[in-house]
Amino acid sequence: MKVNAWNEWDPLTHVVVGRADGTMVQAPEPAVVRDWPEYGFPRGSYGPLPPEMVAAANEQLDNLARILEGRGIRVDRPETLDFARAVATPEWSQASMFGAMPVRDVLLTVGNELLEATMSFRSRWFEFLAYRPLIESYFREDPGMRWEAAPKPRLTRASYREGFWEAYEALSEAEQVALVRRGELVLSEAEPLFDAADVARCGKDLFVQLSLATNRAGGRWLRQHFPGHRVHLVTFGNPHPMHIDATWVPLRPGLVLHCAERPAEDELVQYLKVNDWEIVRAATPQRAGPPPLSACSRWLSMNVLVLDPGTVCVEASETAQIEQLGKLGFEVVPVPFWDVAAFGGGLHCATLDVHREGVLEDYFP
Ligand code: NVA
Repeated sequence: MKVNAWNEWDPLTHVVVGRADGTMVQAPEPAVVRDWPEYGFPRGSYGPLPPEMVAAANEQLDNLARILEGRGIRVDRPETLDFARAVATPEWSQASMFGAMPVRDVLLTVGNELLEATMSFRSRWFEFLAYRPLIESYFREDPGMRWEAAPKPRLTRASYREGFWEAYEALSEAEQVALVRRGELVLSEAEPLFDAADVARCGKDLFVQLSLATNRAGGRWLRQHFPGHRVHLVTFGNPHPMHIDATWVPLRPGLVLHCAERPAEDELVQYLKVNDWEIVRAATPQRAGPPPLSACSRWLSMNVLVLDPGTVCVEASETAQIEQLGKLGFEVVPVPFWDVAAFGGGLHCATLDVHREGVLEDYFP
């Protein structure tokens, strides 16, 4: 057993797949607004996702685990906690936690290092505990593994811009995108904050999206933490940026899938072009919007899990995306996964690479 993954595409041999049990529409907190009155969760309310949704999501997560195991990949699953319980630090208390589904948000594998992200939601402050039993076992089994955790954030009111959501919701989309481009969203710069899912790994290059969960200080911390890498802080024309993996998805050396509704910065496009990378517009999703109680967008269609440079898992009903990847030369493994969307994401979100064969390479020489 060995921790090792340098990019998003090398042959996957060991992975963690999340669990839907106990996932909450989290209690109100400064980082996020939930407002789903049509599904029983008006603004300010919170509670567990309905049991029938949990059962359907778990069935699809278990099925993904079986598909991966059938291909010889070792699959581990997290513990679940009582996510309905209140949590506190000496500086705040929060009436609920969130869940243990989007493993990708919390943990980042870079080479032999497993890094626990800071997170930026109070409801997610303790989420690393769901993964600790696994991380501890990896640390025991692999003497070469580096186990790291970014500075635990304080997440006091000073970590958030006062009155952000009211002001932001009153802006036009163009005005919102201007703030996205400037990296001036809900998070202040009081302390480093990042979610691991805002990072896309391409060997020596790490692309880090500034988002509603990742601030510049978080980007700076990552840059200092990975001195052997080129850490690029990037933005996309998305008024609600949250995790890079339904916007900018490296598929193999020289090829990235991009959500054209969320334009990349010219500088990023140029960086790829001069290095002969192809930027492909992702196919239009099959659906007009996200499913009930999902904070994600319909672009989960492109939240794919690459098994090796020629094989990719895609949500089974996303036929246009499947066809596009087939034409790009991939063997596509269709995986039904739409019932998982309300629990925090798609196939990439739900997984964490523990081991991919391969070594550190420079794909942008
Ligand atoms: N929040 C983004 C990324 C999810 C993986 C979206 O919904 O498009």
